[in-house]
Amino acid sequence: MMMYYNFIILIVVSIAGSSGLPSVSLNTYPITDFDELIIDKKLSVKCGNTDYINLSKSQLYEIPKDLVKSDTIKSIFLRENKISEVHKDVFKNAPNLECVDLTQNRIMLNQLKIQHDRLKTLILDNQQSSETVDMSSNEIDYLVDSKAALPNLRTLSLRGASDISEHNLNFLVNAVPNLEIIYLSGSNLRFNHNISAYFPRLKRVYLDHTKSDFISIDNYGSVEELYLDNISFRYFFLDSQVTTLKTLSLSNCSLSHPTKFSLPLLKSLDLSRNEFSNINADLFQNMSNLENLNLGYNQLQEVPYLVYLNHLKQLSLNYNYITEFINMNMPNSLRVLSLKGNGITTIDKLAFSNLYQLQALDLSENQIQSLPDGWDESLQMLGHLNLRMNKFLNIQSMMIKYLPNLEEFYVKGNNFDSIDANSLQQLPNKCIVYTF
Ligand SMILES: *[C@@H]1O[C@H](CO)[C@@H](O)[C@H](O)[C@H]1NC(C)=O
Ligand SMILES: *[C@@H]1O[C@H](CO)[C@@H](O)[C@H](O)[C@H]1NC(C)=O
Ligand SMILES: *[C@@H]1O[C@H](CO)[C@@H](O)[C@H](O)[C@H]1NC(C)=O
Ligand SMILES: *[C@@H]1O[C@H](CO)[C@@H](O)[C@H](O)[C@H]1NC(C)=O
Ligand SMILES: *[C@@H]1O[C@H](CO)[C@@H](O)[C@H](O)[C@H]1NC(C)=O
Repeated sequence: MMMYYNFIILIVVSIAGSSGLPSVSLNTYPITDFDELIIDKKLSVKCGNTDYINLSKSQLYEIPKDLVKSDTIKSIFLRENKISEVHKDVFKNAPNLECVDLTQNRIMLNQLKIQHDRLKTLILDNQQSSETVDMSSNEIDYLVDSKAALPNLRTLSLRGASDISEHNLNFLVNAVPNLEIIYLSGSNLRFNHNISAYFPRLKRVYLDHTKSDFISIDNYGSVEELYLDNISFRYFFLDSQVTTLKTLSLSNCSLSHPTKFSLPLLKSLDLSRNEFSNINADLFQNMSNLENLNLGYNQLQEVPYLVYLNHLKQLSLNYNYITEFINMNMPNSLRVLSLKGNGITTIDKLAFSNLYQLQALDLSENQIQSLPDGWDESLQMLGHLNLRMNKFLNIQSMMIKYLPNLEEFYVKGNNFDSIDANSLQQLPNKCIVYTF
């Protein structure tokens, strides 16, 4: 058993017959960030760093002919140079090349003439165009007329591109016919309707932080993951009966009155950082496959009624205005529940009584002084409990009795500065109490 005597003083009272107590740790432990866990968005892509050549920051104005002659090279980093053209055969002698990173150069898309049979990933983020591009002119023809041919390309990253227009997205069909993932995050794209017209075969589309403020999607093509975060929508409408969509991310989009979504295959939905003050019981009615739902950073005053989401596994209600947790509004499929950062004072004895599969519960940053006797009776699977930053006067008032699987228990920031060893009696031996 490890014990530290520092800020929190552990008063060990010897207890006859006790075979051991949980450990108390003063170490800081990286507490799981449930927002990250709920949807792993992979907001950018990187080339692998085995079998690579690195010519980043090398003051290159062009890619030297015969830069590589190698059957083994898989990645080439050419970040932060001044390259403005990529010629057709430039990587011809690296037949097994899979990834090229040209972030922060000066490449206009119409100067991209690269041809390669194997290339899978091309990164063209944040090009610093030397000339100002006049987007009102229709004369700029992008890859449509270029000779680029990347039949095996799966991922194209154009984050921060300033020379994209909706009209020219059709180039994808010709130059990169097998593209599956496109990053257009932070690009100047204004994007209005009919997603399938531009993305006939894509599976994952990043349009976050684009200039679109209006979206009406009536056909998703084959898209399975759609990221529309950080767009302040003036108008937002989704309507689709049959859709392939599995992940929809709408964080920080100024949404306050959601239209009903009818997305039967959807597994992950991020509606965090919007302006929802209530969630109608039928809002998610036709999302019976939903597993991950993030409603954090909204203005909800009540725990929404979600019982019918009977596949829901992870739910975040972080940083809303919930003060009571009384009803059994949660589906019993839930594994992870976060109620961090609300104003919760009251938790009912039966609030968690149907959550016998719950593995992690975050109640930190609330106003809880005590929990009712028996509140944890059903939480046989709970391994992670966070009660940091509340108003508990001691461990006893947390009323922990039935948590046989508890391994991580966080108690920092309450109204006590010592822990009586007696109060840890109810915790399993394998549990570590984190006091920082
Ligand atoms: C490539 O070189 C640049 C500049 O020296 C360096 O900052 C970067 O970390 C290197 N990247 C890799 C993948 O080695
Ligand atoms: C959307 O685009 C697809 C592909 O170009 C086309 O077949 C379909 O008719 C379009 N739908 C609408 C509503 O414009
Ligand atoms: C949204 O913008 C914030 C602030 O710029 C950034 O930290 C976050 O990663 C963005 N999220 C997405 C999904 O683009
Ligand atoms: C929300 O989006 C706006 C742009 O619409 C951005 O300026 C802001 O940083 C974003 N906030 C967060 C928390 O992502
Ligand atoms: C849910 O689906 C049913 C049948 O597919 C349909 O009748 C109903 O209008 C849908 N409800 C919503 C809220 O979209």
